Amino acid sequence: MNCFHQLDALRNHLAQTPSTALVPTMGNLHQGHLTLVKRAADVASHIVVSIYVNPTQFGPNEDLDNYPRTLAEDLQKLTALEQELGITLSVWTPDHDVMYPFGITETTRVNVPGLSEPLCGGSRPTHFSGVATVVSKLFLQTQPAWAIFGEKDYQQLCVIRRLCQDMGFPIQIIGVPTQRDADGLALSSRNQYLSAEQRQIAAHFPKVLQDTKDQFSQSPADAPSLLKNAIDELQSKGFKVDYLEIRHSNTLESIDTVKLLDSLDFRKKDWRIFGAVYLGKTRLIDNI
Ligand code: PAF
Repeated sequence: MNCFHQLDALRNHLAQTPSTALVPTMGNLHQGHLTLVKRAADVASHIVVSIYVNPTQFGPNEDLDNYPRTLAEDLQKLTALEQELGITLSVWTPDHDVMYPFGITETTRVNVPGLSEPLCGGSRPTHFSGVATVVSKLFLQTQPAWAIFGEKDYQQLCVIRRLCQDMGFPIQIIGVPTQRDADGLALSSRNQYLSAEQRQIAAHFPKVLQDTKDQFSQSPADAPSLLKNAIDELQSKGFKVDYLEIRHSNTLESIDTVKLLDSLDFRKKDWRIFGAVYLGKTRLIDNI
């Protein structure tokens, strides 16, 4: 494995490698991240995995300080994956002064309006600007031909696709379906904040999303009442619901803004149900 901590060393290495696929991460790697690396190996012979806990995407009262930092274990997992895939990975672990040489409050920020505003953008108003800023930096540092992102953070995927279109980054963005535990809970670094009891309750979240999605497919005009019933059910299980919404898969346009009874229009559209809930202090997101 090649590990790079300084930009000059990374750039010297990249100058001698074929086209790169980038897998951006904040570390604390789980099977979901490893699946992204495997997908990268389908398209590229050279892969950079970045590991950087990005402060600008955390709000003032969020979990930046407690976010799990497990670099030694992450490198072990990537070494095992190298053996499994028969490839050599490059790992990019920059410090804050490499990513934000003028500090995080003085940094140039990248903002993707519109797509950043609904859903998670409602409760985390600066989050996607932090993501777009750090991802732009990672793209410029690693100059990938492909970049791989998980669909669990589906709104993030939409924001990054738009960022590439708008800024002309010559990068193909590849989305990878969400990896789930056996009971359906989407894999996430934040799952480890859950107590054993909360972890059991958490499995209701994807189930309610799936049931609502199935009912919506049968009866799209009932979307408002289906969503209300789903919110009631989640609350009865002990979740605090941040949002539960059906939106268009590409534009994130709200279903409220289209004519649901126009079934032709409905069938042309590609809908997705998005949810964010709290169990205690832990925030979980998912979409189907
Ligand atoms: O999805 C994540 O882990 C992060 O938002 C990302 C894309 C690595 C940017 O910090």
